[in-house]
Amino acid sequence: MKVYHLAAECYPVAKVGGLADVVGALPKYQNEAGLQAAVVLPYYDRKFVQESEFDVVFEASNLLGAKRYEFEIWKERTNKLGFELFLIYMPGLLDRPEVYSYPDEREQFIAFQLAFLDWINWSQQKPDVIHCHDHHVGLIPFLLQHSALYKRLAKTTTVFTIHNGQYHGAFGYDKFDYLPEVDMAYAGLLDWGGGINPLACAIKCCDKYTAVSPSYLHELSINSNGLEYLFYIEGAKGMGIINGIDTEVWNPVADPMIAGPIDAKEPDAGKLANKQALCERFGLDVNKPLVSFIGRLVIEKGADLLPQALTQSLREHAGDLNVLVLGAGDKDTEAALVQLNEQFPDSYKTYIGYNEALAHLIYAGSDFLLMPSRVEPCGLNQLYALRYGTVPIVRRTGGLIDTVVDFGDEGGYGICFNQSSVDDITHSVRRAIELYKNHEHLHLLRKRMMALDFSWTQSAKQYNQLYESLNPII
Ligand code: ADP
Ligand code: GLC
Repeated sequence: MKVYHLAAECYPVAKVGGLADVVGALPKYQNEAGLQAAVVLPYYDRKFVQESEFDVVFEASNLLGAKRYEFEIWKERTNKLGFELFLIYMPGLLDRPEVYSYPDEREQFIAFQLAFLDWINWSQQKPDVIHCHDHHVGLIPFLLQHSALYKRLAKTTTVFTIHNGQYHGAFGYDKFDYLPEVDMAYAGLLDWGGGINPLACAIKCCDKYTAVSPSYLHELSINSNGLEYLFYIEGAKGMGIINGIDTEVWNPVADPMIAGPIDAKEPDAGKLANKQALCERFGLDVNKPLVSFIGRLVIEKGADLLPQALTQSLREHAGDLNVLVLGAGDKDTEAALVQLNEQFPDSYKTYIGYNEALAHLIYAGSDFLLMPSRVEPCGLNQLYALRYGTVPIVRRTGGLIDTVVDFGDEGGYGICFNQSSVDDITHSVRRAIELYKNHEHLHLLRKRMMALDFSWTQSAKQYNQLYESLNPII
C-alpha cells in the first residue's frame, strides 16, 4: 500500500514542535511493517537539505491567483530517513529557512498543496492513501473530490490527523481565487463561520480523521477554538491514536546528545552523570532536585504561569530546589523568565531559544519535567522524559491523561494535577521535592518509567489497520 504523508514539518528536515517528530518517525515504522510510506514537505533552506542530495523528479508550474509559479519536486537520493522524502521547491514561496510566520503563509501552503496534487495527478502511480497532518494541508481532501482537475484521483482515500485543533489556518474569501476551479455546488464545504477554514474543511471531507490521543479526540468537541459543533456532528469519523516516540533517536543508552548512557534496569548512576553535566553547564547544585520545562512559551503550554509559579516555588524551597527552563515564544513570558535568572542566580536558569541537543540533555539530566499545559493533544515531552527516567509533572489534559499515571495510584510513576494554575503547579513541586527525598521510591519509579513502552510499533499498526479498513480491496 502506497501512502503519502503531507505536512509542514518533519524531523530532522524542519522542526518546530512535535508534529515534526511524528512525521519523521511514523512513516519509518510503517515501512518496517510492510507499507510504502513517503513524506512530502515544502522545501526549506535548512541544514538537512543543504547537506543531502536530491534528484528532480517533476517540474511544472501552477497559477496562484494571477501569478504563475514554477516548481520542482525533489526526491532525496538515499532514503536515509527510512522513507522516501520529497520536497516541493518553488522559488518565491517554498524556498525559505523558516517553517511558519511569513506574512503570505496562506499562499505558501496553498501553493504546496496544489503543487503536490499536480504532481501525483501526473504521476503514473496512484497512491492508496493520502495522509494529511494539520490545517496546512487541510484543503487536499476537498480539492481531490471537488475540482475537475483531479478527477482521476477523486476516490483516493484521505486520512487527516489533528495535532493541534486550536489552529485552523482560516482565511477570507478574498483568497478564493488562489484555488483551482472547483464545483461551486460543494463550495460550502470550505466554509466555517463565514471564511475558508482548512481544518473544518478537512474534517468534513476526509474519509477518517484521527486525533493524536483518545482523550484529545474527546476534548475536541468541548474545546477546539470554534469547531466544537463540527467535531460533535462528525464524531463517527474520528479516532484517537496516541503518538509514539522514535526509540532510535530517543535512546537513553546510545544517545550521542547526552552525557552518558542511562541503563533502564539500574538508572541512578546514568541519571547522576547526566545531571552533573547539566548542572555544571548551568552552574547549578547537583544535590538539589532539578525541575525542568522544555517547550514553546505559549498559553496552550501554560507557559504564562511559569514566572509566578516558579518564583513562588523557588522562594518556598529556598536552597532546596533547582529549576531550568528551555523555550522560546511569547516575548513577555521570555522576559519574565529571564528576569528570574537575576532573582535566583544560584537555583534558576533560563535558556531562551531552540536547542535540540540541550533538550536531550535536559530530559536525561533532570529529576522532574513540568508540563502545566492547558491544551496538550498528545505531548511528546512527557514520553521522552519517561524514557530517560525523569518524572513528568503534568496537568491532566489530552494525551497527558492517556500517558501519565500519578505515582499515588497503583502502578503510577508521574505527578498529575487538575488545573493549569499557579497553586496546582506549586503544590505539585512540593510533592516532587518530597518524592526526591525518598531515594528508594524515586529509584523504583525511575525503573518503572524506563520499562514503559511508548514506541511507535503499536500506534503505527493502528494507522496501518485504519488504512486497510478504508481500502478493503487491498
Ligand atoms: P508541541 O508540538 O505542541 O510543541 P510536543 O510535546 O508534541 O509539543 O513536542 C515538542 C517537541 O519540541 C519535543 O521534541 C521537544 O523536545 C521539542 N522542543 C520544544 N521546544 C524546544 C526548544 N526550545 N528546544 C529544543 N527542543 C524543543
Ligand atoms: C502538536 C501538539 C502536541 C503533539 C504534537 C504531535 O504540536 O501540541 O501535543 O504531541 O502535535 O502530535
